[in-house]
Amino acid sequence: KKMLAWQRTGYHFQPQKNWMNDPNGPLFYKGWYHFFYQYNPSGAVWGNISWGHAVSKDLINWRHLPLAMVPDQWYDINGVWTGSATILQDGQLVMLYTGSTNTSVQVQNLAYPADQSDPLLINWVKYSANPVLVPPPGIMDHDFRDPTTAWLTPERKWRIIIGSKINKTGISLVYDTMDFKTYEMLDGVLHAVPETGMWECVDFYPVSEVENEGMDTSVNGPKVKHVVKTSLDDDRNDYYALGTYDSEAGIWTPDDPSIDVGIGLRYDYGIFYASKTFYDKKLRRRILWSWIKETDSEKSDIQKGWASLQAVPRTIVFDMKTGSNILQWPVKEVERLRRNRIVFDKVEVTAGSVVPLDVVSTSQLDIVAEFKVDEEALKRMNVNGSDSSYSCQKSGGAAERGALGPFGLLVLASKHLIEQTPIYFYISKDTKGNFKTFFCADHSRSSQANDVDKEIYGSTVPVLKDETLSMRILVDRSIVESFGQGGRSCITSRVYPTRVACEDVKIFLFNNATDARITASLQIWQMSSASIQ
Ligand code: FRU
Repeated sequence: KKMLAWQRTGYHFQPQKNWMNDPNGPLFYKGWYHFFYQYNPSGAVWGNISWGHAVSKDLINWRHLPLAMVPDQWYDINGVWTGSATILQDGQLVMLYTGSTNTSVQVQNLAYPADQSDPLLINWVKYSANPVLVPPPGIMDHDFRDPTTAWLTPERKWRIIIGSKINKTGISLVYDTMDFKTYEMLDGVLHAVPETGMWECVDFYPVSEVENEGMDTSVNGPKVKHVVKTSLDDDRNDYYALGTYDSEAGIWTPDDPSIDVGIGLRYDYGIFYASKTFYDKKLRRRILWSWIKETDSEKSDIQKGWASLQAVPRTIVFDMKTGSNILQWPVKEVERLRRNRIVFDKVEVTAGSVVPLDVVSTSQLDIVAEFKVDEEALKRMNVNGSDSSYSCQKSGGAAERGALGPFGLLVLASKHLIEQTPIYFYISKDTKGNFKTFFCADHSRSSQANDVDKEIYGSTVPVLKDETLSMRILVDRSIVESFGQGGRSCITSRVYPTRVACEDVKIFLFNNATDARITASLQIWQMSSASIQ
């Protein structure tokens, strides 16, 4: 019991109880950040899907509000599913969402605030002539969901996309509308990728190639790239690709077709799904929300009385240094929860060692760490052998030793390391002496419970010449969010330590390389809990 209570997070968004999944219709309106989410009001498992609602001034401290929408019409009686908000040019707000009908057909519905002058947007009205869209010919009843935020076309029409599939090809259908009530379906799709299956929760937005600010969804022009993102129902991960959007022709072209949507980059290499962005006009940034499911058993969820979290909202910008990925970083407001900074300067971690870090109370932390690999070791590695076939998933995890890794941190660890979650870099080399850096998280020893996910996650991470290796880790009880190289590569973990009931959790530096000394510099803060009422 004590263990299950300990798993509830301190500064991640959670309803008071029960099941939550996708983020819905996030927006900034009259001074408030609004957050809606897929919610089961009567249990800790998926079902009875309604829209939960909360508001915040800073994206970290929240106030729960009454449910915004419940399944009470023939066109959404099997669930008020995922949707997105659009703020019109006169400041009015519309919401489009998927309804699962009385015969489980997926249709799109329109809803709007009962009182547009209410900053809390408490009451919602469903449009009397819903549904506004039904599956078009050739699209199956169960493959038509999750409308995006609309953007303005050069003809001043609003345009949305909706995820679907045809056979095994994932697609995004395109519709234009003037009033959100009647729609014109366009020929062709915004994008399609064979063998990716059903596209859920598609997202489409611009990023600036030259500025660190976010852009409103309708912005386009020179030095603007567009991201297409999809959540793949088949493998439950969020994939994105950067490309160019020709607004006149309505055509989006990926920068690199070999890493197209659904087959290339992921937002996150851990647990992270059904995410959605919005433009925050208050602080001129684009913010990413994402559903983080449980990886324990349904039985534990029912015992806990709750299931799922939202990731700490992340700011998204284009990575101007690599030019080939986005950067994700926790919104700066989360730093206001930092307390009691502890600095560790140039700690030497010799090959094959573990160094305890003297930090009390480590269940809620913000960690910023830099690692330098001994230059001599890097030079030595230019000769002999190769571990260029390394991958986080296929390796033996943090216990498998290579010449130049793994090294990093052990978080949520028990005193004698019976339980530990290593977050680490691994540098591999080929026979020509080229290096490749991996950023990984190993859950194989994260818990002594046997009904939890114990996979190893991760990917390669670009490291440019003369860059130091760096990671940031947010620890919040049963969730660990890790950001490699300034957010080029991210890994969200769910961790269920069992020993927390009898001992305090600890944190360690480790270096499991066989032949390289590592120097680590860290700043560690304890994190206060947010106020979520
Ligand atoms: C994604 C999803 C959406 C759907 C919603 C239903 O997790 O399956 O496609 O609208 O959840 O809760």
